[in-house]
Amino acid sequence: MSTTVTGPATDPALFDLVTGIDEVVSRLDDERAITAAVADLLQSALDRGIDLPASVTTPGEDRYVMYPLHVDPAGRFSIASAVWDVGQGTPVHGHETWGVVGIHSGAEHEVSFAKPRTPGVPLEQDGEEQWGAGSVTVCCTTDDDVHQVFCDGDEPCVGIHVYGADIGTLERRSYAPETGEVSWFVSRWTPPVSS
Ligand SMILES: [Fe+2]
Repeated sequence: MSTTVTGPATDPALFDLVTGIDEVVSRLDDERAITAAVADLLQSALDRGIDLPASVTTPGEDRYVMYPLHVDPAGRFSIASAVWDVGQGTPVHGHETWGVVGIHSGAEHEVSFAKPRTPGVPLEQDGEEQWGAGSVTVCCTTDDDVHQVFCDGDEPCVGIHVYGADIGTLERRSYAPETGEVSWFVSRWTPPVSS
């Protein structure tokens, strides 16, 4: 299926990112190969500079928000502008697909956990990182996709997140890390803010 670029993805670097990811997911099946290739493309796009309008970088008042930059018509991938205001973060959550995150502005604090193989047991933390503007990380493959992220520092954090599905409609897990109790949720897209 041909690539459809809608809304804010009219930025040249973002347009080329969409086109490049479309080619990658058409050619590759293995999630580790896909995320490595997408990370390279996202790093190139960030290095080149992506101009995001205020409509997709404005923080939400009481929680983080995910604005759609591009949703593949066949649902093979989506690109979000994920915005955390100062003091905002997420619960411990999974993605049930692959994901690559690049920091557009601000900084993110990420705590990662081993994906539980047994229901109802406490989660084990297996990493902690600070990600600054311009950095790119593979946040997830389906078998290793559990983390918690917060805005770090004194300005909002804007991340460009690429996922291997339409993340605004995908059912995924959040976890109570002390008990391993699972709740299923859909993050849902936030409509771009009109000026
Ligand atoms: Fe996440």
